Amino acid sequence: MALFLCFLFFLLSSSATACDRCVHQTKAAYFSSSAPLSSGACGYGSLALGFNGGYLAAGVSSLYRDGVGCGACFQIRCKNETLCSRAGTKVILADLNRNNQTDFVLSRRAFMAMANRGMASNVLKLGVVDVEYKRIPCNYKSRNLAVRVEETSQRPHYLAIKFLYQGGQTDIIAVDVAQVGSSNWHYMSRNYGTVWDTNRVPMGPLQFRLVVTGGFDGKWIWAPNVLPSDWKAGMIYDSGVQISDVAQEGCWPCDDQDWK
Ligand SMILES: *[C@@H]1O[C@H](CO)[C@@H](O)[C@H](O)[C@H]1NC(C)=O
Ligand SMILES: *[C@@H]1O[C@H](CO)[C@@H](O)[C@H](O)[C@H]1NC(C)=O
Repeated sequence: MALFLCFLFFLLSSSATACDRCVHQTKAAYFSSSAPLSSGACGYGSLALGFNGGYLAAGVSSLYRDGVGCGACFQIRCKNETLCSRAGTKVILADLNRNNQTDFVLSRRAFMAMANRGMASNVLKLGVVDVEYKRIPCNYKSRNLAVRVEETSQRPHYLAIKFLYQGGQTDIIAVDVAQVGSSNWHYMSRNYGTVWDTNRVPMGPLQFRLVVTGGFDGKWIWAPNVLPSDWKAGMIYDSGVQISDVAQEGCWPCDDQDWK
């Protein structure tokens, strides 16, 4: 247990340096086609295009965070008040932006959504705009966290999954799997992006437990019955649970910064 807590502390301290809740200043560009986002580093594939009505973003490595940042939600608004609304656009991070000239590259739809009524074509014409952004909780309304079994999985020897529709404002930092009803947990490793895998796959129906950043600490999320014993590659399974926590960080002095 002590070892686990040290490990957890390490994970938390390494993931909490960005001060998600602060307002950050940067620039944003857009993709003229949605193809880059669906071939993305997060591993969402074409599923990404169906997320969040197509309001998507690729983020630079400090936002992508070796895949931990995949699925995080951001509110982004452009700073030109003539052209852009105060509400801005709300996006899900679905890819790594390897071009470091802007922190974000948005889907065209998300980029246009920053504009005031009638100004979308002017904003598109600029191509790159000054923006400010902050991380916000993801809200999937009535949808639960889901587990997608990856095509690379080979029952019964190898299981690769990714999580879809992760609510709240937390990071998934550890994943364990066990047979339903068993306490013989096996840890899974982050393969890349949002994909976790193991080649020690328990038999039978499977349950998962995750460690997410929550409160000022880590928190367990337990999904007691997720995969049936005949789980299949390519299928998406409802986890039966959802995350609504917002991780708290010590972000002085921006802790009580309002976004006016
Ligand atoms: C906003 O954009 C318009 C059109 O590009 C430009 O004329 C104006 O100077 C910009 N305003 C500011 C404050 O940058
Ligand atoms: C941006 O990327 C280029 C090429 O990868 C690199 O030479 C440059 O130093 C980077 N700039 C910053 C600010 O990281």
